[in-house]
Amino acid sequence: MTAKRNILVTGGLGFIGSHTVLCLNEAGYNPIIIDNLHNSKIEVLDALEELLGYRPVFVQGDVNDEALINGLFVTHSPEAVIHFAAHKAVGESVDNPLMYYQNNVVGLITLLAAMKAQDCSKMVFSSSCTVYGEPETVPVKESTPTRPAASPYGATKQMAEVILKDNNWCEVQCLRYFNPVGAHPTAKIGELPLGVPNNLIPYLTQTVAGIREKLTVYGGDYHTADGTCIRDYIHVMDLAEAHVAAIDRLFTSQRIQKVLEGDPSTDAFEVFNIGTGVGYSVLEVINAFEKATGERVNYSVGNRRAGDVVAVWADTEKVNQVLGWSAKRDLATMMKDAWNWQKNC
Ligand code: UFG
Repeated sequence: MTAKRNILVTGGLGFIGSHTVLCLNEAGYNPIIIDNLHNSKIEVLDALEELLGYRPVFVQGDVNDEALINGLFVTHSPEAVIHFAAHKAVGESVDNPLMYYQNNVVGLITLLAAMKAQDCSKMVFSSSCTVYGEPETVPVKESTPTRPAASPYGATKQMAEVILKDNNWCEVQCLRYFNPVGAHPTAKIGELPLGVPNNLIPYLTQTVAGIREKLTVYGGDYHTADGTCIRDYIHVMDLAEAHVAAIDRLFTSQRIQKVLEGDPSTDAFEVFNIGTGVGYSVLEVINAFEKATGERVNYSVGNRRAGDVVAVWADTEKVNQVLGWSAKRDLATMMKDAWNWQKNC
């Protein structure tokens, strides 16, 4: 039996990271988790152990800790890295930009330096549809020009993409996530927002659970069919599976060899939209939740939220064809799984 490939998963106890750990295991990889527990809980490791049937390797620490990261590479010799570890709250990034640049940009550089030193040249990177800003046309393609970032958070994702493109010794699958929602079907892992949630689905499920009084729909006067903003919501399990497809591609495409041989037609950096290709308005999401769960959502339409784009959803042709991945779970499943997770919290 050949040994499983070790994959370093930074931020592996977070929302998307923890689901990806399960999918990596399912696909025959051995996930090695590093997480600083800044926005996650150690209980997630217990849940992963239960779901995996073994306790995965876990190191509590920070990607900014150079000695720790170097040590991880020496001890575990990961053949690729999935880099989730980053701060992700738009408002917080406006209040504390230094923290965002330190963690999201300096942390990436520290990680890349360790990878280079240890000859690890494969990475899957968590980017975001936020790099498109308010697009002129929808759906957005990977070739759609990016717009100046509206927040330090968005700027860190754009900077990270530039850094990864320039370091063309490293083969990168850059995944631009749309709006990840839902939870594992067992409801043993899911999203754990700290404090008052900023995002729609955790706020909605907490409202239905009685933790919040009422959901405010941010703006009902946009130029959309029902006046509310449109997003491409994607089930976190579909998103996790996209990471496995990206890892598989890193081990099969031979792209980095072609780049190192000087093939001008090959780029070490590839970017993919990870969405369903379908946009839903906030009111459509609320209706889908009520229909899928039989619960009523207490909401009212309020003012617009500063910084919201009106409508964005993904063109998924490239990811479907090149990566061979497409989202399988519908909005009703996303809502059901999010609600089951909330009830289990
Ligand atoms: N919304 C509400 N009420 C809420 C929360 C959200 O109506 O209480 C609406 C928002 O106005 C928006 C939609 O629900 O129309 C989705 O909002 P989220 O906060 O859940 O997600 P965003 O679309 O704002 O987030 C996306 C990406 C992030 C990225 C951000 C940057 O998912 O990764 O854009 O703008 F950081």
